[in-house]
Amino acid sequence: MSFYTLSHILMLFISWFWVYEFGSARRNITTTQSLRDLETLESSNAIFKFGFFSPINSTYRYVGIWYTKEVANQLKVVWIANRNNPLSDSSGVLKISGDGNLQLLDEKNKSIWSSNIPGNYKVNSSVAQLLDSGNLVLSSSGNIIWQSFDHPTDSMLQNMNMYFDENSTISPLVTSWKSASDPSDGRFTVGINHRRLYEVFIWDGVRPYWRSGPWNGQVLMGIRAMYYFAQVDGFNLENDNKGTVSISVSSITKRLTKYYVLTYDGRLLEKDWQDDKKDWKIEWNSLESECDIYGKCGEFGSCNSNSLPICSCLRGFQPRNDQEWSAGNWSSGCVRRTPLQCANIGGEDDGFSRLRNVKVPDDAEWLESYDEEDCRRKCLRNCSCLAYAYTLGFGCMIWNGSLIDVQNFAPVGPDIFIRLAHSEIGDLLNVFKLSPFV
Ligand SMILES: *[C@@H]1O[C@H](CO)[C@@H](O)[C@H](O)[C@H]1NC(C)=O
Ligand SMILES: *[C@@H]1O[C@H](CO)[C@@H](O)[C@H](O)[C@H]1NC(C)=O
Ligand SMILES: *[C@@H]1O[C@H](CO)[C@@H](O)[C@H](O)[C@H]1NC(C)=O
Ligand SMILES: *[C@@H]1O[C@H](CO)[C@@H](O)[C@H](O)[C@H]1NC(C)=O
Ligand SMILES: *[C@@H]1O[C@H](CO)[C@@H](O)[C@H](O)[C@H]1NC(C)=O
Ligand SMILES: *[C@@H]1O[C@H](CO)[C@@H](O)[C@H](O)[C@H]1NC(C)=O
Ligand SMILES: *[C@@H]1O[C@H](CO)[C@@H](O)[C@H](O)[C@H]1NC(C)=O
Ligand SMILES: *[C@@H]1O[C@H](CO)[C@@H](O)[C@H](O)[C@H]1NC(C)=O
Repeated sequence: MSFYTLSHILMLFISWFWVYEFGSARRNITTTQSLRDLETLESSNAIFKFGFFSPINSTYRYVGIWYTKEVANQLKVVWIANRNNPLSDSSGVLKISGDGNLQLLDEKNKSIWSSNIPGNYKVNSSVAQLLDSGNLVLSSSGNIIWQSFDHPTDSMLQNMNMYFDENSTISPLVTSWKSASDPSDGRFTVGINHRRLYEVFIWDGVRPYWRSGPWNGQVLMGIRAMYYFAQVDGFNLENDNKGTVSISVSSITKRLTKYYVLTYDGRLLEKDWQDDKKDWKIEWNSLESECDIYGKCGEFGSCNSNSLPICSCLRGFQPRNDQEWSAGNWSSGCVRRTPLQCANIGGEDDGFSRLRNVKVPDDAEWLESYDEEDCRRKCLRNCSCLAYAYTLGFGCMIWNGSLIDVQNFAPVGPDIFIRLAHSEIGDLLNVFKLSPFV
């Protein structure tokens, strides 16, 4: 082989490589340039890609957004357009339709998915682009008319705002995949539960599966890591006082590779790319132990992942069903041993037993109070108050009805004070009893 041919072949190879690796990095979809299967859009700093893909062990084709950084061909997909309506082959094409919408068509020109902006927005100069934030935006004359950030799938990215109506008590925000190879709507959802205080919940269908603890303006009180890294994680929840609440995450490290995903088996994960290890790492996991499963120990039970068995009854309570309890089925929880004195005349006043460093029970109510003493007094005066907690900065929380999903959180988490009949309180160090003179 002559030198000429060799270098010629080399040149050919290089130019082919160039075209294949770099030339194919498209930046946009316009009225004249559609996107076919195997073509992808890339964000300007190549952090995300947008295009067609098949999940592992699936031959269906989906249109979505994934991180460019991948390990062993496993895509970190963060958004899907047609999760419940896959294509069965690679004939799909993404187009700007006549009315300015972004549209996914199959080989019969049937619409599989559309950005679906109502007719009165009709535009003919739309362009779709993928930003480095992982947001796919459709704009017309420079105005954003649709964006993927407003339609989350199972992931929450940096600087993505999720909005919900302040009056809705339950607002699902993302829905898990059905399985590792099926991205259609699965069992689990993450959302905000707002009965009294704001809380992030994972629901398994309609049943609560995990809760974050109440938002106190700084941290979600039932996430241990937040007591150490609240600033870094940058979770924020804001009420604009016009009826809309937004949540967002924006870490101060500004790492666009840090994101949250709800897995098909109901775990909320925080993942980040490790530059040194060239791999993804789980930085935080909502289910660190069995104790994180909602109501693991039932009503008036408390969970401690470092003890065996993990469940015990709160002080002054006993198993509702001894047989079930000792067999390790804790779901029926515990019942009060000695009735409260409450407002009955005669006899000693009820007192409180202190439980240190806990994930506070579900469904706290916030109460205006001057100080801890005032909080205690207000609880004691009200027969339906079962417990209170007081923290600097946030103030007084009380519970009525039931105490559920309590977990030992030492060394972080507030102390709670559980109301008990006088006779249940022996250990003076734990007694916080209202003096009749205050
Ligand atoms: C679309 O991207 C190409 C480069 O890939 C660029 O030349 C063109 O101006 C872009 N069009 C719009 C409308 O942004
Ligand atoms: C894919 O299929 C193989 C073979 O059936 C199986 O071993 C593997 O666990 C599957 N992967 C996933 C993520 O389901
Ligand atoms: C789909 O639409 C394109 C452009 O409008 C047209 O050229 C093509 O023939 C259509 N295909 C089918 C199967 O209708
Ligand atoms: C649509 O395109 C026509 C011709 O290019 C232009 O005159 C008109 O202003 C465009 N309409 C919109 C809503 O952009
Ligand atoms: C929420 O409820 C309050 C009180 O009922 C009402 O004044 C307000 O308009 C509602 N907000 C929205 C966004 O519906
Ligand atoms: C645990 O007890 C509850 C209440 O009696 C019962 O409904 C449930 O089936 C039991 N669970 C198991 C795993 O036995
Ligand atoms: C007692 O507390 C409940 C809720 O915890 C509240 O609805 C009720 O108004 C309170 N009663 C008094 C007398 O403060
Ligand atoms: C708890 O308090 C709420 C009002 O804040 C009230 O509607 C509910 O009935 C109370 N539950 C019990 C068991 O007292």
